Amino acid sequence: MVVGTVLVTGGTGYIGSFTSLTLLENDYQVVIVDNLYNSSEVALDRIELICGKRPIFHKVDITDEAALDKVFEAHPEIDSAVGESGEIPLEYYRVNVGGSISLLRSMERHNVTNVVFSSSATVYGDATRYPNMIPIPEHCPIGPTNTYGRTKSMIETVITDHVNAQRNNLQKAGKAFEQWNGALLRYFNPCGAHPSGLMGEDPQGVPYNLLPLLGRVATGDRPKLLVFGDDYPSRDGTAIRDYIHVVDLAKGHLSALKYLREKKPGLLACNLGSGRGSTVFEMIKAFSKVVGRDLPYDVVPRRQGDVLDLTANPSMANELLHWKTELAMEDACADLWKWVSNNPKGYRQDPPAELLEALKKSKA
Ligand code: UD1
Repeated sequence: MVVGTVLVTGGTGYIGSFTSLTLLENDYQVVIVDNLYNSSEVALDRIELICGKRPIFHKVDITDEAALDKVFEAHPEIDSAVGESGEIPLEYYRVNVGGSISLLRSMERHNVTNVVFSSSATVYGDATRYPNMIPIPEHCPIGPTNTYGRTKSMIETVITDHVNAQRNNLQKAGKAFEQWNGALLRYFNPCGAHPSGLMGEDPQGVPYNLLPLLGRVATGDRPKLLVFGDDYPSRDGTAIRDYIHVVDLAKGHLSALKYLREKKPGLLACNLGSGRGSTVFEMIKAFSKVVGRDLPYDVVPRRQGDVLDLTANPSMANELLHWKTELAMEDACADLWKWVSNNPKGYRQDPPAELLEALKKSKA
């Protein structure tokens, strides 16, 4: 039984692929649009391998509104959209903001009224500028410190204004308006891989996030990790983040989508985090433990735009969405290592036979 059909933009990327997998595992039909700029079609094979179902795929650029229209026309059953966004320096605004506007316009023309947006905790910026805002609640004022965060915050505003206007206009006209809903999911730091070792992040160039970089140090692709600053006012001098397993994060999308469909809340801005903060040194230690040796690092000056502490207060997601993290950063480290050590070439190689065998056994 199919419970709904969801358009997932960026669905072959890291978070999009896990979200697509979770939706399929929960009886949604998934239509992916992606231009494959920074991702691989092989992700579709891995999704199918793990859950036995394959997402429908259209190679489409999210900024191409006419192409999006064709996708909606080909799949009139689409009732919701889950929007990922790329991280293309200099193109951030065109792709993230422009692309989201194209998507919303095309959705409106095809009467698709629920949108789950991948926002980021980075929209809060430095929450320590206010007293008592760590762990960060959703009412913490927005104040992004980098371009990426500003695009995310801008799209949150666009979606909020759009959904509110649709509701108001329909209500004034005496028509049903509650079908218009948006969830703004503020991700903390997504990491980890599928526990099968068959699906994970496959950055096309040099990664710049902490855990993928640690993975490269562990495989010997990079000589050491550069720790960006040990002079923060934290317990060991390094910055604190709330690392969330990508499988938990994907489940958060499912919970948010269910919430929109059942409760029709209008707008909901919601943190997806664990509530537990870890320092950079703690992450190096945890990853070194699963690898079985101390990974080398050098301390260098702080990175511009970095903030001291991004730790979530996840109560809203816990209570409203009935969602909470089930895995810890230690699990994310173990799963990431399983992925990286078994698939040094990511999706540009065949999956190892023993992992396929283990998957078969786990399904039997
Ligand atoms: C980064 C982005 C943020 C985005 C998030 C998710 C910046 C400034 N922030 O967040 O906008 O939402 O990714 O994709 O780019 N670290 C090191 N050495 C490294 C890499 C990271 O010490 O080589 C430290 C960072 O200073 C930070 C922590 O590790 O304290 C996590 O870094 P990272 O994985 O890049 O995520 P964020 O900076 O939190």
